[in-house]
Parts: sequence; structure tokens; C-alpha cells
Amino acid sequence: MIASGKGGTGKTTLTANLGVALGVLGRDVTILDGDLAMANLGIIMGMHKCEVSFLDVLTGKADVKDVIYENHGIKVVPTGFRFEDVHDVLSKVKRERVEEIVGEFLRQTELLLIDAPAGIADATIISIAAAREMLPVCNLRNG
Ligand SMILES: Nc1ncnc2c1ncn2[C@@H]1O[C@H](COP(=O)(O)OP(=O)(O)OP(=O)(O)O)[C@@H](O)[C@H]1O
Ligand SMILES: [Mg+2]
Repeated sequence: MIASGKGGTGKTTLTANLGVALGVLGRDVTILDGDLAMANLGIIMGMHKCEVSFLDVLTGKADVKDVIYENHGIKVVPTGFRFEDVHDVLSKVKRERVEEIVGEFLRQTELLLIDAPAGIADATIISIAAAREMLPVCNLRNG
């Protein structure tokens, strides 16, 4: 889980670049967009047209295997933005279910990097429930 208290410190940029760099080094990497409320990892990876996303897995409309896309030599799990679905996920999805889903991602990859949202609001639950370790990101300019 790549996280920070403040927004805009570079979490998404680091997730994308670290993921691709590890891929170049021959590691089996998956990067996952855990920023449900403001998903943009897919956009940064040039994948804004993916119809099926992590949100569909959380809402039970798709399987894990349907949302793993190959791009830039690594696996990418984008999260689309649909207001109703984000609300649905945050109010209904249980931590145990998130852990189950993440377990499925982990079975098909060596390393899973999760781009977390800033702060500790509700939307962070996905990343917290999923993560084994945390990599904090800060910068000298804005924390
Ligand atoms: N190492 C860096 N050096 C300079 N600029 C950077 C660096 N990393 C990211 N940026 C720039 O900082 C801005 C925010 O980056 P990014 O979206 O990755 O942050 P974030 O922590 O994911 O933001 P959010 O909290 O909104 O999810 C972008 O304009 C990005 O290009
Ligand atoms: Mg981000």
C-alpha cells in the first residue's frame, strides 16, 4: 500500500513508476488502484477506456481475472469512477470480502502495489484491509 496523509504527494505516480520499473527488472508485478473516490491510476497508465474495473469486482459484477489488464510489461487493475457504485462499495462491502478479493490478486502475482487514497477517510478501507506493508510518500513542499 502506497499511502500519505496529505493529497498530491505523488502516490499514484510512484505506484505506476515503481511498478513498471520492477517489471523491467523481471518481477511479476500488479498495480491496483485503491483510490475509489478519485481513481486515476488507469488514466496515468493510458487505460482510461477500460470498461470493467476493480469497482465491478467489489460490487460483484465481475471476477478478479476480468479486471487484470497487461500494460507496460506489468499487470494493472484500474478502478473506474461511478458515483453510485463508490457509494455502494463504501457502505456495503465488508473488510473480509476485500481481503478475499486481494487474496485472489495475490495468488496470481508476486508483488501487489496498491495506490491508496490520501488521508484516513472511508475510501481508505480497501487499501488498509488489503495491505501487508505500507510505503509512506511525502514531499518537502507539501508534506
Ligand atoms: N517525484 C515527483 N517530482 C515532481 N512532481 C511529481 C513527482 N511525483 C508526482 N509529481 C506530480 O505531483 C502531482 C500529484 O501526483 P500524484 O497524482 O501522483 O499524487 P497523489 O499522491 O497520487 O495524489 P492524490 O492524493 O490526489 O491521489 C502530479 O502533478 C505529478 O505529476
Ligand atoms: Mg493518487
